[in-house]
Amino acid sequence: MKKKVLSAMLCLTMVASLAGCGGGSSEPASSGDDAAVATEAEEAAPADDSADDAAEETNDSGEAKTYKVGVSIYQFDDNFMTLYRNEIESYFKSIETDTEKYDVTIVDGKNDMATQTEQINTFITQGMDVIILNLVQTSSADALIDQVVAAGIPLVLINREPLAYDADGNTLDEQYAGILDNDKVCYVGADARQSGTFQGQIVLDLPDKGDINGDGKVSYVMIEGDPENIDAQYRTEFSIKALTDAGVEVEQLVDQVGNWDTAKGQEIAASALSQYGDQVEVIFCNNDGMALGASAAIEAAGRKVGEDVYLLGVDALDECQEMVANGTMTGTVLNDHVAQSHTAVDVAVQALHGDAIDNYYWVDYVMIK
Ligand code: GAL
Repeated sequence: MKKKVLSAMLCLTMVASLAGCGGGSSEPASSGDDAAVATEAEEAAPADDSADDAAEETNDSGEAKTYKVGVSIYQFDDNFMTLYRNEIESYFKSIETDTEKYDVTIVDGKNDMATQTEQINTFITQGMDVIILNLVQTSSADALIDQVVAAGIPLVLINREPLAYDADGNTLDEQYAGILDNDKVCYVGADARQSGTFQGQIVLDLPDKGDINGDGKVSYVMIEGDPENIDAQYRTEFSIKALTDAGVEVEQLVDQVGNWDTAKGQEIAASALSQYGDQVEVIFCNNDGMALGASAAIEAAGRKVGEDVYLLGVDALDECQEMVANGTMTGTVLNDHVAQSHTAVDVAVQALHGDAIDNYYWVDYVMIK
């Protein structure tokens, strides 16, 4: 598989310009191949400057051209992805013009791969002009990508990065593994290593560096998201790595999967606090949804964030930003759903216009403490 490190680096610049200009399109350097693809796609979605094109752009009654957009979200019942999908919908509305409209269909994958596969098949049958896909299972990416590519529909993957696997089915610990090796397929996301590192950095910046009881080590509870998800894997690994890289000794008391879910976060934190009591110094949650649950458990256990325990999340949901401001949460990391959704939509529109797209678009996380 071809590596795309260089193109990913180039994309960083593109993302900055896409996010900055909102709706503007930025033109990646196009190779001969890209140009060929653009020409093919232009035949399907012509530019405005010929009489024939104009006829296809608008219907007989002179109405605007409407593009059909299919969006499948892994699960509607997810705090962060709800913000993300609402922003996709409203941003598509906001960039409509007199001549270009978007008919956006958003469906719930219900955290079930069979359901989502069916939805993608339906999108193909319905002749969607572009598909935006938040995978239920990244390990099923190859098969779905192949189907969409075979149907000639551009595909924008979001939030759950498809990974490459070795012959034994283990994930390759490598982010830019080039499995999206196709001119009409891309991934828009954020590098979860950065969010994990920021969580660790927030702890390092505390006066006691997380060692509340002064016993020379940071004793922590880790509450993980969906273990198949690279965001969960990297946040778990890199939050702790930031501490150990800085020479801080750590002790893991509990590491359990909460699947991004508030109720599960509460359950895990409650049982960790009752089992380990004052030994628990830091609770790392892979997302804010679970941190909200952990916060309820902390309160129920009569503990106080900032005094006898620290609490970290990721996403920067509004309620968690307020909690950080009033001290009931130690810190979180902004997972920028606005920049990510706008980038995904901008890239989808570029693809609809037959413009060349790159394979990876990255949006930065921001530390909130
Ligand atoms: C993460 C986010 C989680 C959850 C997950 C779904 O990036 O932090 O809250 O939404 O995506 O894949």
